Amino acid sequence: MKVENPTLFIIFGGSGDLAHRKLYPALFNLYRNGYINEKFAVIGTARRDWSDDFFRDTVKESLKKFCEDEKTVDEFIGHFYYQSHDVNDSEHYIILKKLAQKLNDQYELEDNRVYYMAIAPSLFGTVAGHIKSEDLMTKNGFNRLVIEKPFGHDFESAKALNDEISQTFDEQQIYRIDHYLGKEMVQNIPVLRFNNPVFETIWNKDYISNVQVTLAESLGVEERGGYYDGTGALRDMVQNHIMQILAQLTMEKPNEFTSQKVHESKKALFASLKMLTPDEVDANFVRGQYGTNQNQTQISYREGLNIDPDSETETYVAGKVMFDNDTFKGVPFYVRTGKRMPEKSTRIDIVFKKEVKNIFPTLDTDAIKENVFSIIIEPDQGYELLMNGTKVGMNFETTAFDMAYKHTNAQLDQVPEAYERLLINVLDGDQTNFTHWDELLSTWKYIDVIRQKWDETPISFPNYRSGSVGPKDADELLSKDGNSWFWQG
Ligand SMILES: NC(=O)c1ccc[n+]([C@@H]2O[C@H](COP(=O)([O-])OP(=O)(O)OC[C@H]3O[C@@H](n4cnc5c(N)ncnc54)[C@H](OP(=O)(O)O)[C@@H]3O)[C@@H](O)[C@H]2O)c1
Repeated sequence: MKVENPTLFIIFGGSGDLAHRKLYPALFNLYRNGYINEKFAVIGTARRDWSDDFFRDTVKESLKKFCEDEKTVDEFIGHFYYQSHDVNDSEHYIILKKLAQKLNDQYELEDNRVYYMAIAPSLFGTVAGHIKSEDLMTKNGFNRLVIEKPFGHDFESAKALNDEISQTFDEQQIYRIDHYLGKEMVQNIPVLRFNNPVFETIWNKDYISNVQVTLAESLGVEERGGYYDGTGALRDMVQNHIMQILAQLTMEKPNEFTSQKVHESKKALFASLKMLTPDEVDANFVRGQYGTNQNQTQISYREGLNIDPDSETETYVAGKVMFDNDTFKGVPFYVRTGKRMPEKSTRIDIVFKKEVKNIFPTLDTDAIKENVFSIIIEPDQGYELLMNGTKVGMNFETTAFDMAYKHTNAQLDQVPEAYERLLINVLDGDQTNFTHWDELLSTWKYIDVIRQKWDETPISFPNYRSGSVGPKDADELLSKDGNSWFWQG
């Protein structure tokens, strides 16, 4: 797959962390691997007063650890331009428009533009409004808007933001990034489900007992306290990444794997999300906040930089999500995400029902385990299947064993970064792996009920130790259904 679209990238927030840590390395990898060709240019904008040369030096610095081939790096950064720009200043858009037209002609970019919002969400609407009022949109090429999370902090704010940007861009032009949808193993889920009859036939309530989605991080909040303390794990991880993983796992098979059909399928799925009432929240969702570790060598969340010492922000969430549809009615989808867990691990464990009629008189029925199929997303990538068999020897005893497949290190080296895939999708005009407004609408409404209930209910934090798998209540969430977490850290 080679992309031929010549494109001008206008990056709002071109001096920021996201741009330098993620976007420039991703663009560089696309360039050196031939996915973007010489016909591209980047305008970085931010308020600070940088020259083109200084900007290029900062981009070069951000690529240092990715490439020692100075010639390729120099060729690449030659396509970068900087404009000092305050998003609130109309005059600056007029200057930006002139520069964009000049580069469009110079690099033969055919009027194709990607507007990338690497700025605070509070500024998205302002920028979109000025793109329209100062007439930056081109007539002949494509105009696509890329937006980073968080997309609102509840349904109302997400809707207000969407209404604002929709005055300039229509849904087909908006690419809302959820970088989990750019991950190799997450993109792989529909292929696994829909191209393997062995899975397709059993992927339903008749065979599945429960599904467990775990997004565990070993790190704490580190320097991001200022952002995180007003957000929390529910908004930061559950509303977006976990919900999108659930959609990959449960959407009905689309007739065709096209953006339109996939989003139709996801929309129908989220419409079947069983909403909680405020009274049901406590029985279905658990929150936690990390304290220090056992040896007290790590600081607790509340002691972190830019964090309220009495903060009730959750760094851990576990919940039971249910869908009211024919395929999964009655199947609990347990989800959890937390910081300062024992190790980084992103995985899905699908626990199958253990309804076995044991026809072997000498075998112990209780020793038969549930089959568990695990999709390992990070840091390893692969699959595991827990099965029942017999122990080696004369005694004909049952035992469980694991069939495991892992991508090799050489393969992992070839795995593109999520941002690389997603940027290619933007250039291709493929919205399959981006979040549609309909999905945001449903997921925010679901999350808002939990958030409101929690905001009204004081909690005693911290309630789990750094380095542990989370609060005890998260175990009870499953044990009261007769289940238990498969991954124990
Ligand atoms: N960093 C990440 O890993 C990450 C991950 C996921 C999502 N995000 C999202 O990505 C966005 C950017 O995050 P970030 O971490 O890169 O933030 P950041 O490092 O603070 O960068 C913000 C950028 O916005 C510019 N800016 C601020 N006010 C401006 C104004 N009035 N006019 C023009 N430019 C302005 C800043 O430059 P000046 O100060 O010079 O104007 C800077 O370039 C946010 O929406 C964030 O939630 C970031």
